[in-house]
This record gives sequence, structure tokens and C-alpha cells, in this order.
Amino acid sequence: MTIAFLNDEFVPLEEAKISPMDRGFLFGDGIYEVIPSYGGKLIGLDLHLARLENGLNEIGINTPWSRGQLTDIFTELMKRNGNGNLGIYLQITRGVTMKRNHAFPANTAPTLFAYTFDIPAPVSGDPDKVTHWKVTTRQDLRWQRCHIKSTSLLGNVLHMMEGVNDGGGEILLFDANNQLTEAAACNVFVVHNNEVKTPPLDQHKLAGVTRDMALQILRAHSSLEVLETQITKDEVLAADEVWLSSSTKELEPVVSIDGDPVGDGSPGPIWAQAQSLFDLHRFDHFE
Ligand SMILES: Cc1ncc(COP(=O)(O)O)c(C=O)c1O
Repeated sequence: MTIAFLNDEFVPLEEAKISPMDRGFLFGDGIYEVIPSYGGKLIGLDLHLARLENGLNEIGINTPWSRGQLTDIFTELMKRNGNGNLGIYLQITRGVTMKRNHAFPANTAPTLFAYTFDIPAPVSGDPDKVTHWKVTTRQDLRWQRCHIKSTSLLGNVLHMMEGVNDGGGEILLFDANNQLTEAAACNVFVVHNNEVKTPPLDQHKLAGVTRDMALQILRAHSSLEVLETQITKDEVLAADEVWLSSSTKELEPVVSIDGDPVGDGSPGPIWAQAQSLFDLHRFDHFE
């Protein structure tokens, strides 16, 4: 039985209930985070909390919860759910009002919901244990505020379903100028001639915590050239390696795009090196 946290109490997930007048339900008016943990230890916590605060500030939700209080909630949730390999989902919405109105109401009490779900054990750079992603591509049709980790995810949901219906389960997105943005629920890295590249952050991408950690780890612990630079669709299609990054995947290799192999069609050596380094350093302190 999963234990969740809703409005100041721990409850079995099946018993957690919110009002249909919650603005998270009516408008997707909220911010969320997904924080991975292994054996009760949280990964990239400060980066996740900083992104949460940025998102809440950006959409004008004031919350009463300090970083310390949130961390205590996560610690108790992990404990009550067995301290295994757990993702923590946290969502803070603008709260409940009895009149539906697009404009923000003044002074609503935000709703905090959190629960845990099982995540796979990390793969330590082993190509036989990792998912080999076969993805397709689309023009990125989401909005201009993809840097906000908003619960309004319909644009991502529709792109993800294109990936699912294409048979791959993820999808690489490109802007109208054929520049890579990200995937439906991941950031993207490309390797070409031993150079590791990922697109720079702007309002078309989420500032992924895994992306940030991978950049910091590779810069500190490898001699690889690591660049944040625009990447065209042609460059992605000609890459030696392509990786997806997210909190629950860490780094995972893409082995084909639109039916054509990436490199030789198997996870590449730089991916194995990067994921092995991630394995050694995921519990480091990142800011
Ligand atoms: C659109 C999008 N981009 C990137 C990411 C990766 O972010 P993180 O590494 O913080 O999980 C996610 C994760 O859910 C996402 O939804």
C-alpha cells in the first residue's frame, strides 16, 4: 500500500481526496517535481528544491513550506514506503476556490500532494540492462513556457502519445527551425566525434536536474568536451550517440531515430562512460 501526503497528513494513496474546485484540477495551475531516491537517499535534492521555488515564484504561488519541512516530508514518505528505489512525486497547486475564474484569487491556501512510486535500480553503464530507445521525431508544438515545470502537461502528453503510437514510447522534438529542443519527458544529449552536446536552456526546454548533474559530472570527472549549444535535426540524425536524461532514467541511450540506427545501433561507449560516472557521483552534492 502506497502512503501519500496530502494537506498536512499521511494517508493511504487510495484515500487521498481533493476538491474538484482545486485550481490544479480545473486549470493545471500548479508546479511539480519528481525526485529520485535509492535506499532512502535523495538525489539532486537542492537542485530539485531550487527549481520548485523558481517555478512557484514564476507563477506567483506563495507556500508556507520551507526546504527543511519539504525534506522532512520526503524523508517520512520514503520511510513509510519502505526506503527502496523510489521516485517522489510532489505537486503544489494554487489551491481551492469556490468560484472558477481564470484570474488568480488572492490568498488561497496551496494544496500539497506527494506520493512515491517504484523506480528501477540504476544500470551502472551496463548496455545489457538499459532500455534501448527507438524514438521518432516531431515538430515541438508545446507552448513558450516549457522552462516552467507546470502540471499543465497536455502539450507533453500529446507528444508522448505520438511517441507511444509510433511504437517508441518517447519522441525527439524540434522547433520550427529544426533545432533540437528536448523529448516529451526528457532532455537530450548528442555525441559527435567524442564531443558531448546538449541544447542550451531557454523557454523551450525544462532545466532538467539530470541534465545539470550530468554536465557537472562530465566536466569535473572526464576529459570529454562538453558543450551547451544548438543542435540541428541533421546533426542529431548524424550523431554517433544520442541519450535521453531524466530523474527516473538517469542517462539512457537512443539506438534508432525514425527507423534509422544511431551510430551502429547499440548503446555507445561514451554513454557507458557517462552513466558509469553518474553511478559514482549521483550522491555528490550539487548546487
Ligand atoms: C519535458 C521534460 N524535460 C526534461 C525532463 C528531465 O528533467 P529531470 O532531469 O529534472 O527529471 C523532464 C522530466 O520529467 C521533462 O518532463
